[in-house]
Amino acid sequence: TGCFTYDVGFTATAACKSAITYIDGDAGVLLYRGYPIEQLAKNSSFLEVAYLLMNGELPSKTEFDTFEHEVTHHTMMHEAFRTFLYGFRHDAHPMAMMVGMLGSMASFYHGSLDLEDAEQRRLAAIRLIAKVPTIAAACYRYSIGWPIRYPKNNLEFTTRFLHMMKEVPSEPLELNPVAAKALDLLFILHADHEQNASTSTVRLVGSTGANPYACVAAGVAALWGPAHGGANEAVLQMLEEIGRPENVGSAVAKAKDKESGFRLMGFGHRVYKNFDPRAKIIREMCHQVLNELGVNDPLLEVAMKLEVAALKDEYFVQRKLYPNVDFYSGIIYKALGIPTEMFTVMFAIARTAGWVSHWLEQQTDPEAKIGRPRQIYTGYAERDYTALDKR
Ligand code: CMC
Repeated sequence: TGCFTYDVGFTATAACKSAITYIDGDAGVLLYRGYPIEQLAKNSSFLEVAYLLMNGELPSKTEFDTFEHEVTHHTMMHEAFRTFLYGFRHDAHPMAMMVGMLGSMASFYHGSLDLEDAEQRRLAAIRLIAKVPTIAAACYRYSIGWPIRYPKNNLEFTTRFLHMMKEVPSEPLELNPVAAKALDLLFILHADHEQNASTSTVRLVGSTGANPYACVAAGVAALWGPAHGGANEAVLQMLEEIGRPENVGSAVAKAKDKESGFRLMGFGHRVYKNFDPRAKIIREMCHQVLNELGVNDPLLEVAMKLEVAALKDEYFVQRKLYPNVDFYSGIIYKALGIPTEMFTVMFAIARTAGWVSHWLEQQTDPEAKIGRPRQIYTGYAERDYTALDKR
């Protein structure tokens, strides 16, 4: 109909050109700026990956030190954020608070922001990477009634976040280095994934010339849904509901039954029709973390049985439904003592690196224009207004 294509869910539409992330869903390949995710997972750090995504190249030692210094010195929140945070209901979901808090950043950095100025754009990106963990930790602490902690700037990015989130005022946090390393790796794996729903949202809002903090707040909202970033939380809830390995068979049967409305959370992906390369890395790490932290989690047994059962089931094989990154990340977060409602917030901290990189790329794209999808109209043809007393 008309001169445009009907493409629900944009399965066949490229809305932009991008040089940031490459995915080959059939081969199970993921590259950030050309570097395979496996190599980055093994050798890099989240902050270095954030630099790479933003700038296109791995940093030299001096470039990295400058970047780290800049991020570290933008970690503080404006004190007025506290007043804003304290207005949320005590039991608000941390993702609900994140959407509001990030949206409110636009009010702190708007008037002075000149989007034509490359340095100001870069600074907005740095502020977001730096402050999102501070805000995330504050949202969590508020939700459990703990006092907010300031970032300790003598620590590195991921360790600093864990301290902010988990340290109790009376006791210094004894952080297991395995925990910090595992979280950093999860941040690397989640840092970008080309035009996923939240990044596309950031770009759509960005295409209107909106404030970058507002763009990222919109990205957080998109990430929250269980079909996207909310899946890691949903996976854990599902594993808890399944409860015991002997219940796995009936869970798989239910997921195959379309009438049930139940899907196996953490399975399937719009782009990967092969094993998600991130899931491969995470799967290995999952066992390692549980071993090294001495965690013996019965849910892991349920997860492993579910994985095996689904991978050999005709329904899942035919539809190429493999475990995705979120299938394992929830189990690791749980082993690290991160509460379930914070799982998607973790994803948001990592994906901020991708969101700001895409926003920066879009701002200098000479072909960029306002995003404005079309529709196939299915409503009434023209008709006449009926007066109220005639209806
Ligand atoms: N369990 C059972 N059946 C499924 C599942 C599942 N997890 N995923 C897809 N299917 C079926 C679906 O019913 C359909 O069957 P049929 O062809 O008979 O109608 C077929 O597989 C294709 O599914 P689709 O919904 O058309 O695929 P999509 O590309 O639109 O959706 C997805 C991708 C990730 C939203 C979906 O697989 C899903 O809902 N998975 C569970 C949620 C999840 O784990 N999401 C995290 C995605 S990875 C992290 C991220 O990027 O945010």
